[in-house]
Amino acid sequence: MDFHIKVILAIATCALSVGADITTYVPQLTLMPIQGSVTSTTFTLDKPQCIFGSRTNQVWLLVARSNVSVSITNAMLKPPSMYSSFPTQGYYHVPLGTEASYPCSNTADYIRVGDTVYCTDNTYCNAPLPDSGPYRVKFVVMNNNALVSSSLWSGLITLRTGKNPSTIDTWPGRRSGGMIVLTSILSLLMGILTLCLTAAFFVGCKGMSRKKGTKENSIIQADQNTKNYKTHYSSTIRHQPDPPSSPEPKIV
Ligand SMILES: *[C@@H]1O[C@H](CO)[C@@H](O)[C@H](O)[C@H]1NC(C)=O
Repeated sequence: MDFHIKVILAIATCALSVGADITTYVPQLTLMPIQGSVTSTTFTLDKPQCIFGSRTNQVWLLVARSNVSVSITNAMLKPPSMYSSFPTQGYYHVPLGTEASYPCSNTADYIRVGDTVYCTDNTYCNAPLPDSGPYRVKFVVMNNNALVSSSLWSGLITLRTGKNPSTIDTWPGRRSGGMIVLTSILSLLMGILTLCLTAAFFVGCKGMSRKKGTKENSIIQADQNTKNYKTHYSSTIRHQPDPPSSPEPKIV
């Protein structure tokens, strides 16, 4: 039992130490929650930790177009290629300091590739990537331009495609049919509502003015009624003593 555990531990330790070797390391896009981990000109890798040996060798990141990466041999990794040769040969080296800057650490860190906006010609530079790719990258360790070791290739890295203003779609042709129907119905309803409101407004205005008129009329009528009533009343009062044939005294 004890022996078995020891064997398992030994295997695990062995696997871990192999996993921590640069020759089996696969560069990864970071999963750290940082803003813009992939943009139209940059991407962000996990910073390798505990995979480099000697402290003085130079660490480079080889960035290659994925279709070119398959034909890159170790002989092509040295000397490092400048960014200016990328358009012709399809790959270049980004300088990433010495091995000493990749200590073992418990804190996750990242490397942003394409982060240096201003690069002068004929320098090694972490320049912005020219297009969406796809790219593959690998870490390369060199000692005075002699290849020491290299990691495995990363998976495909495709950058975001920035939208060219002229291709931004403003015509509804590519909108979904349902959206067009919904928009049409809403516009129609809006139109009808506006018409109704306008109509209601005018009708309301007319009604108000008419009401004003009828109010005046009814006041006059009421006056007349009162007069008539009074007359009638007085006449009825007078009716008792007077004969019915007597004329009404006041009829307007
Ligand atoms: C690789 O793809 C790029 C475009 O993405 C193209 O310009 C280049 O010619 C291709 N190279 C090879 C070797 O196929």
